Amino acid sequence: MESRVIVLHTNENWGLEVLNVARYLGMKNSGYVWIVTDLLSSVLDTESTLTSKARSDIQGVITLKMYTPDSKQKRKFVNKWQMNIPFGLNVYGLYAYDTVWILAKAIGEFFSQGGNVSFTKDSRLSDSMSIFNEGNLLLHNILQVNNMNGLTGPIRFNPDGNLMNPAYEIINVIGTGSKRIGFWSNYSGLSVLPPEVLYMKPPNRSSSSQRLCSVVWPGETTQKPRGWAFPNNGKHLRIGVPNRVIYPEFVSQIRSTDMFQGYCIDVFTAALNLLPYAVPHKIIGFGYGQNNPKFDDLLRLITTNYYDAAVGDFAITTGRTKLVDFTQPYIESDLVVVAPIRKLNSNAWSFLRPFTPQLWCVTGIFFLVVGVVVWILEHRINDDFRGPPKRQIGTILWFSFSTLFFSHKLNIDMSRLVPLNSAEAYEKALKDGPKNGGVAAVVDERAYMEVFLSTRCEFSIIGHEFTRIGWGFAFPRDSPLAIDMSTVILQLSENGDLQRIHDKWLTRSACSSQGAKEEVDRLQLKSFWGLFAMCGFACLVAFLVFLMQIIRQFSRHYPDLEEELGEPSSRSSLQSVRLRTFLSFVGEKEEVIKSLSKKRKMEKASIRNTDGDQSVTGDLKQKC
Ligand code: GLY
Repeated sequence: MESRVIVLHTNENWGLEVLNVARYLGMKNSGYVWIVTDLLSSVLDTESTLTSKARSDIQGVITLKMYTPDSKQKRKFVNKWQMNIPFGLNVYGLYAYDTVWILAKAIGEFFSQGGNVSFTKDSRLSDSMSIFNEGNLLLHNILQVNNMNGLTGPIRFNPDGNLMNPAYEIINVIGTGSKRIGFWSNYSGLSVLPPEVLYMKPPNRSSSSQRLCSVVWPGETTQKPRGWAFPNNGKHLRIGVPNRVIYPEFVSQIRSTDMFQGYCIDVFTAALNLLPYAVPHKIIGFGYGQNNPKFDDLLRLITTNYYDAAVGDFAITTGRTKLVDFTQPYIESDLVVVAPIRKLNSNAWSFLRPFTPQLWCVTGIFFLVVGVVVWILEHRINDDFRGPPKRQIGTILWFSFSTLFFSHKLNIDMSRLVPLNSAEAYEKALKDGPKNGGVAAVVDERAYMEVFLSTRCEFSIIGHEFTRIGWGFAFPRDSPLAIDMSTVILQLSENGDLQRIHDKWLTRSACSSQGAKEEVDRLQLKSFWGLFAMCGFACLVAFLVFLMQIIRQFSRHYPDLEEELGEPSSRSSLQSVRLRTFLSFVGEKEEVIKSLSKKRKMEKASIRNTDGDQSVTGDLKQKC
């Protein structure tokens, strides 16, 4: 069976026997947790000399013991006991002692209340038993014994007749002795502090307060056992993997065998090897290897228990996490766009540019400066992506995460997505382009695209990813194996094994396309030449208009400048005088404009003051 946590509740006679057989069966080795009810603590307190065999049987066990707070009265009694009685005193001994006292007090009260000891035979009882006639009165007096300080602590009963605030000590058997590792009470749950300290505080069940001291578990280990293991019953975990045609680097069936290989399989195997237990498993293909099966259908078979796990290139999406539990992602695989490099600098790809923050800025400035130009430009650059729906975006894994993302999240009509069956089909469609029945771009997960691009240097990833996504292995909901696998996947990532497996399967003779890619991904100065030209032209026109206006005003103002200047000494001095006069005229104009605007402001202010005075006068008139 799977469970490695065993709770033993039996009578004292059998308890040690059961533990002995368990040790013989190997059920006291590391990995097991034994919780034994208070039978064991009673034995430990009573039997001062357990055999070494019995000691070995109970190593690492956790047991419970009714908690009785320390007191002077208790210490005195225990000392007296140890001096006179040849066997140990357990907690039942203390309760027996207190019970006698409670009973004595109650009987004292019973007699003082006029009670009589008389019995009646009852046919329902055996011959040796009778009914105590005034038993209810005695019981009433027992329950009235309140706040008696006994050896077991303050004794009080609740309205149901139960002892108030019962608590347990939690004990760990270690070596030849035992160690108290904490307490348990109804009020405070698990704690390392004694319950009477916690009764004075408000109840706190937060996980940080529910602590115990460290435990030495069976197998003499302090490492917390997981609590379960794979049952050694010959059953194998059924692992579903997509049996498909594309990207064999990730998962593919080895020809003429029922075995699978690929990046995902290697990651899975490496993760299993790091688990501290064996996971017998059998990989079973999903699909016939003729086309690409739908991943969601495979994952649904986990919910029907046909598969116990799914291994492959499964994108972790919100919808899928409602069906299954995923491990930590073992690779990132964002959605990216791939297009031919020759097209990248053309404006056909501008439909993707709104996804880049830089472009938002540039577009904003663009609109501010020359809206009309943008309008024209936008129409030109979006030519490929507007108008009647065309089939422009290629995708291989039809009904994969990426297709659904496109149609549901980005509201791109499915009619615009082209299902393609292979990397070769991608290549052809991209080369043909949308005008020749191909596609303008393919959108797919980065992991696939990196494989695709590693041997096709004429294409490149453009823009930024649409969404961040990773791949994980899928397990049934709440599967403890998913948690352990996540832990070992992190270990694989930290120790570099994930990278090594990646390099083995996915890194090929990469194109020296980094330069091209950089060129594609970045806006350069020359990307804005049109914008600069427009701005420059607009400025030039404005300047020329201004110049013409001022020259006209100048010639009106100084119609007879040459006569006024008289006979110049030379032609060049005439030119310079003329230029100076012109410049001082421009300067004067500026002064005049400034003084005019100042005058206008003052006039406006004086009008406002006059209005204010009038309203004040009006108010005064009304009040009077
Ligand atoms: N990686 C393909 C999918 O998860 O749908």
